[in-house]
Amino acid sequence: MATAIYPGSFDPVTFGHLDIIRRASKIFDRLIVAVLFNPSKRCTFTPQERMEMIGRVTGDLPNVEAATSEKLLVDFAEERQSFVIVKGLRAVSDFEHEFQMALTNKKMNGRIETLFLTTNYRYLYLSSSIVREIGSLGGDISDFVPAPILEDVTRKLRENTGRAEK
Ligand code: PNS
Repeated sequence: MATAIYPGSFDPVTFGHLDIIRRASKIFDRLIVAVLFNPSKRCTFTPQERMEMIGRVTGDLPNVEAATSEKLLVDFAEERQSFVIVKGLRAVSDFEHEFQMALTNKKMNGRIETLFLTTNYRYLYLSSSIVREIGSLGGDISDFVPAPILEDVTRKLRENTGRAEK
């Protein structure tokens, strides 16, 4: 059975992530969407919240599961005995960091293979950070995050900047 891991911060999961999840879930028998720790990011949502939201938006995909771990990706891969990593690539700006991570993971564990899926052109511009910025300033994020999590994401982003309705 071919299993792949799709790792990321997912703070929060967006339509861009969901597109990669759907496409990867057709390629692999099983896909583990892993909420991992990125020390260079200060996340708004807890790992449990992010994992639970991924579970909610992938409810119709039986071969997709959400997980979270504070381990290195290579150690998580070893724990799950899954050595294929799927990542989405948007613009050239993603490339340098993604390339560095792929090579570093390979160096740490030679069994790891990283595969890149090109983003759907519709989501080329989309990132969790832009969603957080728009949502925290009171903007409409319904074009960016899936309906099942829209209310919760909107509320938390507004609460964080004191914009929640009383
Ligand atoms: O969505 P992101 O923030 O770009 O995803 C980055 C992530 C979480 C996949 C990366 O930071 C990661 O793999 N974190 C786990 C810790 C780890 O293995 N770090 C070394 C990466 S070479």
